[in-house]
Amino acid sequence: MKKISGNPFLKRENGQIFIDLVPFEDLIKKYNTPILIFLENRIRDNINSFKKVFNKEFKRFKCFYSLKANFLPEICKIIYSEGIGVELIGLPELKLALSIGFSPSKIIIGGPYLSKELIEASIQSKVREIIIYDLNDLKKINSIAQKFDHVQKVCIRVNSQKFRSKLGVELNEHKIKQLKESCILYQNIKLTSILSHYSTQMNDLNQYKRNMDAISNNMKMLLSHNINIKNINFGGGFPEATVMPQDQLEKIAKSTRNLLDESEINYRNVYFEPGRYFIGDSGLFIAKIVKVSENRWIFLNIGNHICPKFAKCSLRFYNASLIDKSHKYKTSIAGIVPTDQDVLAKNYFFTKQLKQGDKVLITNTGAYCLTFSNRFPYPLPKILLIKGNDVDEIFDPEINQDFSIN
Ligand SMILES: Cc1ncc(COP(=O)(O)O)c(C=O)c1O
Repeated sequence: MKKISGNPFLKRENGQIFIDLVPFEDLIKKYNTPILIFLENRIRDNINSFKKVFNKEFKRFKCFYSLKANFLPEICKIIYSEGIGVELIGLPELKLALSIGFSPSKIIIGGPYLSKELIEASIQSKVREIIIYDLNDLKKINSIAQKFDHVQKVCIRVNSQKFRSKLGVELNEHKIKQLKESCILYQNIKLTSILSHYSTQMNDLNQYKRNMDAISNNMKMLLSHNINIKNINFGGGFPEATVMPQDQLEKIAKSTRNLLDESEINYRNVYFEPGRYFIGDSGLFIAKIVKVSENRWIFLNIGNHICPKFAKCSLRFYNASLIDKSHKYKTSIAGIVPTDQDVLAKNYFFTKQLKQGDKVLITNTGAYCLTFSNRFPYPLPKILLIKGNDVDEIFDPEINQDFSIN
């Protein structure tokens, strides 16, 4: 059987497609399109290959799934069962993670806006670390931690120096002085970690090197002011696992280790926070061609409302009804949102024949599609979780209404 989209859980043979072990035909007989499908075994594989690669390079490596990439409870349960931690940005995610059973020692939480309620809930549940993007948040955390008689471990997110990035603290003499004074003054916080997250969909080794530079430059600056930090958090930013082959991941892990060794920085733990790498290629849509237009434009019954550009997925399109036919004819693909801006792909290689009603497989839609989706008034798709031969309906808009978390 041949892989589709480089995914070992998506295969084709004699015109038939198998989604894990489930025949595509069975699914479209039973369900109307569009359908969103997740592949449980792919998520598990991705987590395990990531862990294997980084455990080989780092003795004290810890992994925190960036939950915003996909916060469907059934997906989070899979992540939980693999024993890794989570990185969260808000209160709804914290409630979800705790209800699923994540130990607070495996939860790190932080973002550009830390509300009082979020800090309180984080401190009360004794999360591992709170990440600050602004030094002024230290005072807020300290006063809440004092109220609960707790010393809260804190991670500082530094600006990765990516062009025009506004996220994280840009350390300079003045900021370091402020940080040092805060560490002395605020007895209920303890600065333990540094985070730099560079970008998303990072395919180029140099991007990881630049992130490493941001970490080492900032750590050296802090050290020269006697601020010693134990843990390094490199954030996420890895592409879908099918887009980044394992040998490239190994190169990144090795080069990060070598650069750390060369920098002679002392550290204890190394953290990563992948989102897309774990989940991106576990997701796929089955959609339908609803219109064929001039100049090889086709319109699908999904669009940017549920498969948004903002999600930056490495989308791949296949004519599932003609899967064995060659996909070498330039075709443009539009969505159903009534705006000319709803373009899913331009000049994409697709089958010669374009027919209304044909089913289209869109891969790599597991990360951020739901997060960045909007309320454009079309029905939400059913969401299925497939494992081997098992098909589990994990979201039905008629029963569950919405997949948002509160
Ligand atoms: C601090 C931090 N960590 C991790 C991630 C996850 O990124 P990705 O899904 O690209 O791995 C993000 C994404 O924006 C982030 O800002």
